[in-house]
Amino acid sequence: MTTQESNQREGKLRDLLILVPYVKQHQLNLWLSIALMIISSVISIALPMFIRRAVDVHIMGYDLPGLLLLTSIAFGLILVTTSANIFRGRLMAKLGQNSIRALRDDLFAYMQRLPVKFFDKIPVGKLITRLTSDVDALRDLVGNAIVSMVIDTLRLTGFLALMFWLDWRLTLITLTLAPILVFALTFLTARIRKAEDQVREQASLVNANLQESISGIRVIQGFQAEDYFHEQFKIEDYNLLRAGMRAVATYAYFWPTIDLSWLLSTAAIFYFGGQWVMDGTATPGDLVAFIAYTGQFFGPLRGLSQAYRIIQRALAGAVRIKRIMATETEEKANLNPMPRITGKVEFENITFGYDPEEIVLHDISFAAEPGQTIALVGHTGAGKTSIINLLCRFYNPIQGRILVDGLDIHEHELESYRRQIGLVLQEPFLFSGTLRDNIRFGAPEATDEQIWDALETVGLAEAFTKSRITLDTILTERGANFSTGQRQLISFARALISDPRILILDEATAHVDTLTEQKVQQALAKLLAGRTSFVIAHRLSTIRNADLIIVIGDGHILERGTHEQLLAQKGEYWQLCSSQNMAQIC
Ligand code: UTP
Ligand code: MG
Repeated sequence: MTTQESNQREGKLRDLLILVPYVKQHQLNLWLSIALMIISSVISIALPMFIRRAVDVHIMGYDLPGLLLLTSIAFGLILVTTSANIFRGRLMAKLGQNSIRALRDDLFAYMQRLPVKFFDKIPVGKLITRLTSDVDALRDLVGNAIVSMVIDTLRLTGFLALMFWLDWRLTLITLTLAPILVFALTFLTARIRKAEDQVREQASLVNANLQESISGIRVIQGFQAEDYFHEQFKIEDYNLLRAGMRAVATYAYFWPTIDLSWLLSTAAIFYFGGQWVMDGTATPGDLVAFIAYTGQFFGPLRGLSQAYRIIQRALAGAVRIKRIMATETEEKANLNPMPRITGKVEFENITFGYDPEEIVLHDISFAAEPGQTIALVGHTGAGKTSIINLLCRFYNPIQGRILVDGLDIHEHELESYRRQIGLVLQEPFLFSGTLRDNIRFGAPEATDEQIWDALETVGLAEAFTKSRITLDTILTERGANFSTGQRQLISFARALISDPRILILDEATAHVDTLTEQKVQQALAKLLAGRTSFVIAHRLSTIRNADLIIVIGDGHILERGTHEQLLAQKGEYWQLCSSQNMAQIC
């Protein structure tokens, strides 16, 4: 990933076009800022001319009132520039923040719709970095670099023009020092950019590491693996430090080099300019104004080189963001919506692998009639979850078709299909928010009454009322303030509310007490009633009651039939049943 990323990192200016629609919404701010910048630039270009006049006319002419008038005008102009700069700063910040917020929002919405496959390959921490620091790089571009580029170019041209007009000889002397600057601006900037890229790359690794160890904190503490994770973190964090030091060390040369070239030119100007003043080919005012110009000349140069860095960063960010946005979403264009289904499911010769080189499911075919309960059993790693993943369209099969009510699910719109599927996983996804939001997120229009009905059905209502849990009770992250059994039942209630036509239950051995176990059983019976259901269970008697049991082994269907039929066969299922962990159900 890393090498691939760095190979593709070079962005083209055209990649920045992704920003156009976002900036366009606030273009008034942009134009106003440019106008304000032009005002303050013209003033800063003009000011040294005031100095020249002050020296040559008023000071040399002992004209105190004239000097006072000129200074007052200059003072007024300085006030104007300062206010213009403050106002412009605010406008640009607003422009940057607002347009980037919109981009971040789109990126989030887009990311939510990316195929699950995408998330298999990239650590969460890295994605978070995309959404934050890469987007920030673009914000700096919009809020700072664009305007600075336009204006600094203008100022630079203005300064050069006036410097030539004042004294072309001195200008040429100043420019002979340009090679030092060119060196500083190109060589050093390239190195700084490389170092900063490494910093960002490394920061995203540190983030990924942080994310993993925070979300796994219970297990880490449980196994006392704190030291191991601390060591891992230290390594990544040290690499970040080193990358950061490299960037800073290179950067340390940057300003001094620029300052050096400024100081050298000032010295040269004093020496040669001083001689020309002495021999009368230049006035003292020329010399003073010229030195003021040289001082200011470096301002826009700095601005431009900073803008260059920001653009480079933004380019790298834009490329990565574009790559996310270019990842194909699952959806082909213009597919018909999936009509309301009755729930007949057919797998036709499905072959699948997460990696096309490594086949996980071989030629799987089966059919489920509407309302039937299908149990998938098999050893761990057999391919049960993979079948479910395909049915949910989280992945695409390599070969074969999946038909629902006789319609190919890949030829119909994803959203209208998924809406009819209910998913209950072994680790229920509960998020920080109210109980209400957690239950109705599959059916946002559900009323409180419906939610309580569902809670009643899954057998939670009574316990919740007793312990004063309301729909407004806030769940902590992942629902940690509820028991495992309660969490499972809450996710049942959620599935009930969304009233899916196809229900999928993927759960491994959960350790719930007998009372909860009974409740789960009862709730499950209600949940399964009237829907086509796929159940992966290791413990529930649901398997026994299933209309069809499919035994999977190594990605093949080994046996199929009802509990009695399969036991009678004395084959794989019988063996599975005889093994200890299935003993309860046989
Ligand atoms: P499954 O995840 O389908 O197995 O993986 P399973 O039957 O549900 O197993 P349990 O009972 O939950 O443990 C089937 C194969 O697919 C591979 C696994 O290595 C396994 O061999 N696999 C799974 C992947 O290559 N990538 C994945 O993201 C998931
Ligand atoms: Mg599984």
